[in-house]
Amino acid sequence: MANGKIQKISERSPFESYEDILNNDTVPSPDYLKEGPNPDIKSDPISASRYHDQDFFNKEVKYVWPKVWQWVCREEDIPNIGDHHIFNNVGKSLIIVRTKEKEIKALVNSCLHRGRQILADDGNLDEFRCAFHGLSWNFDGTFKENPFGWDCPQWNGGAPDLPEAKVELWGGFVFVNMDLDAAPLSTVLGPMSAHFERYDLSNRYKAAHISKKINANWKLSTEAFMESHHVLGTHPQGLPMTGDINSQYDTWNDYVGRQLSAHTVKSPHIKHDISEQEIFNAFTGADHDLDKNPEMRVPEGVTARTFTAQMFRDNLSNETGYDYSHAGDAEMVDSLIYNVFPNYSIWAGMTFNTIYRFRPNGLDPNTSIMDIVLLKPVPKNGPRPEPASIKHLDFHEPVTDASDELGAGLAMVFEQDAINLPYVHDGLRASGTQKVEFSNYMEKRLRMHHIMHDRLIKEGESKEG
Ligand code: FES
Ligand SMILES: [Fe+2]
Repeated sequence: MANGKIQKISERSPFESYEDILNNDTVPSPDYLKEGPNPDIKSDPISASRYHDQDFFNKEVKYVWPKVWQWVCREEDIPNIGDHHIFNNVGKSLIIVRTKEKEIKALVNSCLHRGRQILADDGNLDEFRCAFHGLSWNFDGTFKENPFGWDCPQWNGGAPDLPEAKVELWGGFVFVNMDLDAAPLSTVLGPMSAHFERYDLSNRYKAAHISKKINANWKLSTEAFMESHHVLGTHPQGLPMTGDINSQYDTWNDYVGRQLSAHTVKSPHIKHDISEQEIFNAFTGADHDLDKNPEMRVPEGVTARTFTAQMFRDNLSNETGYDYSHAGDAEMVDSLIYNVFPNYSIWAGMTFNTIYRFRPNGLDPNTSIMDIVLLKPVPKNGPRPEPASIKHLDFHEPVTDASDELGAGLAMVFEQDAINLPYVHDGLRASGTQKVEFSNYMEKRLRMHHIMHDRLIKEGESKEG
């Protein structure tokens, strides 16, 4: 370390805080964005094997996934009675079905006879009939018909109803939990629900849905979206317009954390002065020709942040018919990302909400599936747009193939992450220390992610004795 540059250790970056940035905003944001809980958790390294070891993965499958709330689809994906969506994760399969106008069930997608998967595709049916020997259930999971009932004395000639998982709805999202004794979703979300009340998520529609396969463990994929300081290495084009190391990281409870990162301000990594016009150009992804497009000129004496936030308010009002004059600058331009353990993330804010979901790719610890969804406000005078169908991208297909759906700038950012992740996965296998060292403040929530895994695995193992 003799020649290394040692920096003074502080609680967080020595630069302007996110709250400092908010305090200078032209239109203030609500108080819920102020600094939240920041508990002191240990800074021990974790083992690299957690990302590729089959035994550890098997423990996650056995003890973690069956105990957590998982987002499966939007209510708008199954609007009519009988509409169903098939949700698969770590070898489990559920039929998410609308059984009444205001009731959604999650039925275990496995025949009670010899276990055949009952349904493979989304659709609308009034009965679910097993294609092996013909047992059938009504679409609400109640037993309907057994063509070989005379030979099933154990069922008195019929068959049981299909087993169910627990279902809860939040903001138009359908969540399930395989554990029928699980604490309510509202308990897990804690104060997060109140934070999102301003955004009326039920009244938003799914404008894009991309499902991308990645050659990396699912936890690596998840954790790549839980901190902003990788902008320096992975997304350098973002430095002129992202307060990456000014970001605020809060831990609301064991399940919910968040990162708040300012845009339309330059990164402290950029030491030289850059103009407000350059910041605006970087954020909008274009070197605007100001003679041809004078409306893109940041006026003298106005910051890029104030200018962009107002432009976005005006554009969103024109698109939706709603008034956004009350929306804080941060709510228009910043990344306000909430993570819910273990694999669901959603951005707060007015313009659009980005949602991430990460899953193992089947039962493979070495590959994962990342879902990216954009939610946009339903126009005030309707009609409600149809929800986007899922665009699947295989390992070799870049996220930039979804530039039309996500926008070119966002698609490129996701592609940069997708390119990076296999190198992280392979690097961890090759590690000389077989340890992962997390930074203290910026990666606190990644550490929490592992603390929760350990807790659930320990609880599961101790119940088994
Ligand atoms: S496995 Fe389904 S009816 Fe036999
Ligand atoms: Fe990234």
